[in-house]
Amino acid sequence: MIANPRLAGFFNRALSHEMAAVQQYLMQSRLAALWGMGDLSSHFRRDVDEELAHAERLMERMLYFGIPANATQLSPVRLGRTVAEILDINRDIELEAVRLYEEAAGYCERVRDYENRDIFAAILQEEIAHLEDIGRMKKSLSATEVL
Ligand SMILES: [Fe+2]
Ligand SMILES: [Fe+2]
Repeated sequence: MIANPRLAGFFNRALSHEMAAVQQYLMQSRLAALWGMGDLSSHFRRDVDEELAHAERLMERMLYFGIPANATQLSPVRLGRTVAEILDINRDIELEAVRLYEEAAGYCERVRDYENRDIFAAILQEEIAHLEDIGRMKKSLSATEVL
């Protein structure tokens, strides 16, 4: 099956986002470890696994449609000088993901491509959950001011 260029564009934008997120959270996981914050480091490492799983799901569909993976433009890693700064940066990244998957799912809905709509919508739900998780971390950070 051959994908139309719009669909191929959404897959490659999404893949670029996921690979950039992998790079971002992996680097932050190592940074948190350097700061001696083992729990936070593990938390970011689990985020890496989640974003990698998204990349895998996208790649499966790309293989099916014969779309070559082309995540060549990864945004640079943004580290942050404090945990609060890191969480703000990550919230922006997850917001970008939510907007991207909303747009992709909306496009598929309009062209009645329900199978791909469901893929994008499922990843969208996980990015929304990720965003909520960051919100909870920010709350507990300001409550304890320990991290
Ligand atoms: Fe993701
Ligand atoms: Fe995410």
